[in-house]
Amino acid sequence: MTESSSLWGGRFTGSTNDAVAALSRSIHFDWRLASYDIKGTRAHLLALRAAGYLAEAELVKLDKSLVELDKRVTSGMFVAKATDEDVHSALERGLIEMVGPELGGKVRAGRSRNDQIATLIRIYLLDQAQLLKTEVLQLIDVLTTLAQEHLSEPMPGRTHFQHAQPVLLSHHLLAHAWPLVRDLERLAQWRERASFSPYGAGALAGTSLELDPNIVSDALGLTAPMANSMDATSSRDVVAEFAFIGTLISINLSRFAEEIIIWASAEFNYIKLADAFSTGSSIMPQKKNPDVAELTRGKAGRIIGDLTGLLSTLKALPLSYNRDLQEDKEPVFDIADNLLLILPAFTGMVATMQLNTARMEELASAGYSLATDVAEWLVKQRVPFKEAHEITGKLVAFAESNNLELDEVTDTDLLAISAHLIPEVREVLSVSGSIRSRTGAGGTAVPRVLDQISALRKLVPSENR
Ligand code: ARG
Repeated sequence: MTESSSLWGGRFTGSTNDAVAALSRSIHFDWRLASYDIKGTRAHLLALRAAGYLAEAELVKLDKSLVELDKRVTSGMFVAKATDEDVHSALERGLIEMVGPELGGKVRAGRSRNDQIATLIRIYLLDQAQLLKTEVLQLIDVLTTLAQEHLSEPMPGRTHFQHAQPVLLSHHLLAHAWPLVRDLERLAQWRERASFSPYGAGALAGTSLELDPNIVSDALGLTAPMANSMDATSSRDVVAEFAFIGTLISINLSRFAEEIIIWASAEFNYIKLADAFSTGSSIMPQKKNPDVAELTRGKAGRIIGDLTGLLSTLKALPLSYNRDLQEDKEPVFDIADNLLLILPAFTGMVATMQLNTARMEELASAGYSLATDVAEWLVKQRVPFKEAHEITGKLVAFAESNNLELDEVTDTDLLAISAHLIPEVREVLSVSGSIRSRTGAGGTAVPRVLDQISALRKLVPSENR
């Protein structure tokens, strides 16, 4: 390690062993925080100036140089060197190259890489959360639009993956939208907790330089400085919570992905994926594969791994900063990167898939899925539910052994099964009648689906559409 790029050479006589330098280095993954580090440093300059450690002219010169350095970072004119330990060292080197060691050397007063990195990861993730929100809103919007377009088309509803009761396709699609809405609520609530500034905490115990942490917090657009310097530098609950919310988004996507994979099979034939959102096989010319859905499902595994790894790193760490905490970044970067990779492809796939609603409708009544309707109809005739359940069970057994659908059982046979099964029962022996009757809260009847659509439209402002 060269003296010039290290932030801590003074106390050491020998140079760092190469293997140690390689282990210690984080520049290959924390360089993406460069602009955020510069933002933090510019805010810190204001606090140094207010406390009298910088003259006005020094502040102006340093600030201008940092703006220029930021441009050079963005354009690739300034790059990290292999000898730079981390983003903080690289940028201090860059600043000193521009303004000299005398002025550049003043900037580090009253802060540590510990409060610096704890701040950067927060403001970086706050931006990532915004990008994620936009993508998730787009998917919710696509689901809502699809539901509107297929408002009253039935499909089999399943429990235990067996035919259970008919539902509307629109209702099923929106069942995938609501968990995402809650994920966005989680992100919004996370934002409130994340928007606090560790700057001013120093290495762990705060600073004696009487720097006003509110100046930094305000300049970074955060709510307030953190109340405890040890907590500020060593807790990563905010990172873990972001990682969890990201993981939940991924898991929610993977559940829909799994259905899409099944729906696209020849046996189901519910959907056809657009060419642009499927892939072929190098050996089987006929193949059209749902790779977007499969990768969405597969990435959920690695993302769960990221979260688990991060939590394991945090477990049992004593106060306050420990170098273990450097391991917080790669997992959470991986989660955000992968979600931002998955979401546009997944949303595109959903928006462009062709829905074979005739096939779904054809299967909607299969598997005696109207049996519950018969039982509930009997209850409306004041038959106790226990008896209604038994009567309907007998009806299903009769139909099954005679290879009939429920509505194919004759009036005479119905009455033979139970005197309660008068011909009027036929009004619920249709898929449309069954769906129409489910008007209770959150039910699959059209008016309840319309309620959902209007609620979702309110949540997804038109500028996101
Ligand atoms: N690269 C470090 C991290 O990500 C920055 C803080 C380093 N602090 C230290 N005392 N070595 O956590």
